[in-house]
Amino acid sequence: MSAALIILAAGKGTRMNSELPKVLHPIGGAPMLHHAMRAGAALDPEHVIVVAGHGADQVRAAALAYDENAEVVLQEEQLGTGHAVDQAREVLKGFDGDIVVLFGDTPFLRPETLERMIATRQTHDVVVLGFEIAELQPRYGRLVMDGDRLVKIVEYKDASEDEQTIRFTNSGLLACDAKTLFEMLSETSNDNASGEYYLTEVAELANRRGLSVTAIACDQAETLGVDSRTDLAAADALFQTKARAELLGDGVTLVAPDTVYLSLDTVIGRDAVIEPNVVFGPGVSVESGATIRAFSHLEGCHVARGAIVGPYARLRPGTELAEDVRIGNFVEVKNATLAEGSKVNHLSYIGDASIGAASNIGAGTITCNYDGVMKHFTHIGERAFIGSNTMLVAPVSIGDEAMTGSGSVITSDVEAGALALARAPQVEKPGMARKLFEMLKAKKARMHRGS
Ligand code: UD1
Ligand code: MG
Repeated sequence: MSAALIILAAGKGTRMNSELPKVLHPIGGAPMLHHAMRAGAALDPEHVIVVAGHGADQVRAAALAYDENAEVVLQEEQLGTGHAVDQAREVLKGFDGDIVVLFGDTPFLRPETLERMIATRQTHDVVVLGFEIAELQPRYGRLVMDGDRLVKIVEYKDASEDEQTIRFTNSGLLACDAKTLFEMLSETSNDNASGEYYLTEVAELANRRGLSVTAIACDQAETLGVDSRTDLAAADALFQTKARAELLGDGVTLVAPDTVYLSLDTVIGRDAVIEPNVVFGPGVSVESGATIRAFSHLEGCHVARGAIVGPYARLRPGTELAEDVRIGNFVEVKNATLAEGSKVNHLSYIGDASIGAASNIGAGTITCNYDGVMKHFTHIGERAFIGSNTMLVAPVSIGDEAMTGSGSVITSDVEAGALALARAPQVEKPGMARKLFEMLKAKKARMHRGS
């Protein structure tokens, strides 16, 4: 059965108190929306439709960044969850598979749960996902069951006192075939406490049609929604806890797991060692057996097998470290490829550069890649030796097995095997230091006497 995913993401998220649309606030370095899209991807859906409203342009860009085939439909006015789903009607004209509705602000849904919903669809016409709440709360729709049958969903505001004590509540997720769902959505009304078109009304409408309607349960943690910054922080903490546990299970050593910050797309190979206080921003992959030492910050980079990074290193987007590369303390690397066994061990900036295999970059070396207007590239060949405190003024190219003298400012290309020196020659004045000391001491003494 082919499926279309409809992700509701038009709401403002007033309680976030933010310019940024709620679904774009990040958890683990990725917008909440990406978490929902990722869970939905498990269904291998034929359509991924995101319903956008507040901040629609930004939401569209984020949706397409995750899945270039996503379809974004606009809900100009937020008239309710039923109305939101209805916005996909045009896009899904002629589609006769299943629709699975999920919320963009529910990041912890497990793919297995979605699969379970689809499996239940084999035997039921409408499947709703619910969860048992431990403590009664004045929110959430209540699932009114009769055995296996979901009779109706009542929003808390519309519920009778009896119904308000029901603990089986609505997560908001629903699966139903497209044709039936759109027919039923045409029949919903906004005659309720909120004056909205509720998606939840379809449960009752389906019963009236004699369809079989049921609800399955998942863990409350899976349906955890984010409504405020406090929720967001808690959700991020929960994400981190899960992501760390997964890595540990995958055979990655986290010396102090609670201090390592991970992103949704962080990939770390078996037997890699991650020391305390390392931040993995988006887009990082670290191969098996690499070591990331304490207090390093990585984003948009790849670290190959056996490489050692840090402590106190910063790898920025476009950094490619081949096997056995060494990046030491206070080194920043951006948009640069470092070939096998090359070393940048101390206090350097390597940006817009390529460094050949087994080259050694001395302490304090800087690729001067920016002229104030444009960025330029530095090429360094294999087995080259760049002396400490060399300024490589790009564009510039250093040949294989070439050397630069410490403190050089290199402004033109250096051919293979050559030594380039670009600094003032040393001048020595015998006895001059002693004279200078005496002069200065005498001056200081006069100042103290006040003369
Ligand atoms: C909804 C459910 C409720 C359930 C709860 C779970 C309905 C009527 N109620 O209530 O039964 O227990 O979620 O969290 O469905 N949205 C739009 N357009 C709209 C309205 C909402 O895109 O016009 C989106 C929101 O951005 C959000 C989601 O739909 O992602 C849910 O909307 P929200 O207003 O949070 O619904 P609840 O009142 O929480
Ligand atoms: Mg809500």
